[in-house]
Amino acid sequence: MRVHTRIIDIDDRSPQESAVEEVSAILKAGGVVAVPTETVYGLAADALNPAAVRRIFEAKGRPADNPLIVHIASEAMLPSLVKSIPVGAVRLARRFWPGPLTMVLEKSSVIPDETSAGLPTVGIRMPSHPVVRSIILQSSLALAAPSANRSGAPSTTTAEHCIEDLDGRVDAIVRSGPSSVGVESTVISLAQTPPRLLRPGAVTLEMLREELGEVAVDEAVTGPIDSVSRASAPGMKYRHYAPKARVQLVRGDVEAFTWYVNAHAAPGAAALCFIGEDKGLRLPAVLLGKGPEDAAHSLFAALRDFDRKGVQTVYVHCPDTVGMGLAVYNRLQRAAAFDVVDV
Ligand code: TXA
Ligand code: MG
Repeated sequence: MRVHTRIIDIDDRSPQESAVEEVSAILKAGGVVAVPTETVYGLAADALNPAAVRRIFEAKGRPADNPLIVHIASEAMLPSLVKSIPVGAVRLARRFWPGPLTMVLEKSSVIPDETSAGLPTVGIRMPSHPVVRSIILQSSLALAAPSANRSGAPSTTTAEHCIEDLDGRVDAIVRSGPSSVGVESTVISLAQTPPRLLRPGAVTLEMLREELGEVAVDEAVTGPIDSVSRASAPGMKYRHYAPKARVQLVRGDVEAFTWYVNAHAAPGAAALCFIGEDKGLRLPAVLLGKGPEDAAHSLFAALRDFDRKGVQTVYVHCPDTVGMGLAVYNRLQRAAAFDVVDV
């Protein structure tokens, strides 16, 4: 018999104290709980409790060599988790924390190997979402939390998506509103010189360069990694964010996109593009909104929707890679397993 996971409703704006206490108690006892953040929902457990962290990997079906991000809610929580705090980290924290930025730093000995997947570094993020913040403050726990999806599936941006993926596999799911950003945090390594962008997000490459000057861009940000062992962010090497449907990215102007997609119109095919780009299409289209911020917000829900509707092939108009566009492009490439056609 399937045992359903407990659903705990918590208000986004003013988290109810009793519900926050209930979640804290589960986490302190070594439990695993899906919680909302401003980027995507996360699957949280005590980052310093190896047994609790192992349960995250089990619930997600996540490969053990993929490290977890540790979430904090105050500057005071940082020093014990890392070996040193470089000047660049202070600059970034001052401008972007709390918010959608993860910094990879040399880890201290309190971080178990389970959390860092055996790496000498750890990713740290201070989220801005009031619910996860109050859970961290109430429990006084640093929380390890990957995105709250089954490994390989699109990340979850609503509690309903978490229930779809994790019901019966975790101790509780917090139900708040949808995540406002919609794609996962920017990941930058400050454990090397120059700092290196490992995953693009809402804190854009342009913003990072304003604060730090030179920032290197890891190969995994824009292309496939052929040598698996070279992956600097292990999470970037897996086929990822993938719906069951086959996804193809179509790069070119709107006319070329329209022509190509119409030439491939068939039952079970659909298009994914921005508002206005669907005018001449002869097959069903799902719209990503007006610009890259809208696209980030709606992307993962759109990918899940295609499966619900039984769509078999999705043709996506490739976005520009400026600003937030780079994060959207990076997720689409992985959803498409790097199937990109230039038209
Ligand atoms: O927005 C987010 O970051 C969400 C929410 C829940 O905070 N979390 C999230 O976690 O996206 P996850 O586990 O799905 O993605 C973490 C990414 C992976 O690509 C992982 O390989 C990379 O960050 N990462 C984590 N720690 C790292 C480290 N020490 N060195 C290099 N990459 C690391
Ligand atoms: Mg993930």
